Amino acid sequence: MTANNIRIGLVTVSDRASRGEYQDLGGPAMRDWLSRALVSPWQPVARVIPDEQALIEKTLVELCDDERCCLVLTTGGTGPAPRDVTPEATAAVCDKILDGFGEQMRAVSLRYVPTAILSRQIAGVRGQSLIVNLPGKPKAIGECLDAVFPAIPYCIDLIEGPFLETDPQVSQAFRPKSG
Ligand code: MTE
Repeated sequence: MTANNIRIGLVTVSDRASRGEYQDLGGPAMRDWLSRALVSPWQPVARVIPDEQALIEKTLVELCDDERCCLVLTTGGTGPAPRDVTPEATAAVCDKILDGFGEQMRAVSLRYVPTAILSRQIAGVRGQSLIVNLPGKPKAIGECLDAVFPAIPYCIDLIEGPFLETDPQVSQAFRPKSG
């Protein structure tokens, strides 16, 4: 796969943003963070959808299988409220759950806010795509991506996706040396 095949799904899960009751700030926050961190050319594939589990699952499957996104970031719907179902939808479509992402995001986030413990965010692999849940607040998006992005390029290498190059000033990708 060549560098210009890097497609990244950006899914905002929010009833109110999907109805246009407020502006989607999460999608642009994910896009801005990636634009600063990635040196490789990439293309966003953005969606804004309500907190409906079946629709979240359908959107994730479409971004992974049809749109061929090597990485899909979601924002929102990770908390304990009745309509927060993004982690359930993510778990339902993944082949493997990577527990370390949720553990690390919560551990780092707790340094910023005690309510980080309320986020049930997870990550997992579906085929050749990595899906990572982020909380809804733009500030939380940056805090979580700062915490876990160093491991993402190597994860995408391991699932045979494209080579992601980062700006080490923003996020230092870690690739263990072989041999
Ligand atoms: N994580 C970080 N890094 N920074 C934050 O401000 N907010 C928390 C938490 N995780 C927060 C965070 C709060 S207040 C909630 S309710 C949960 O994420 C769930 O947010 P969500 O339902 O919008 O996904």
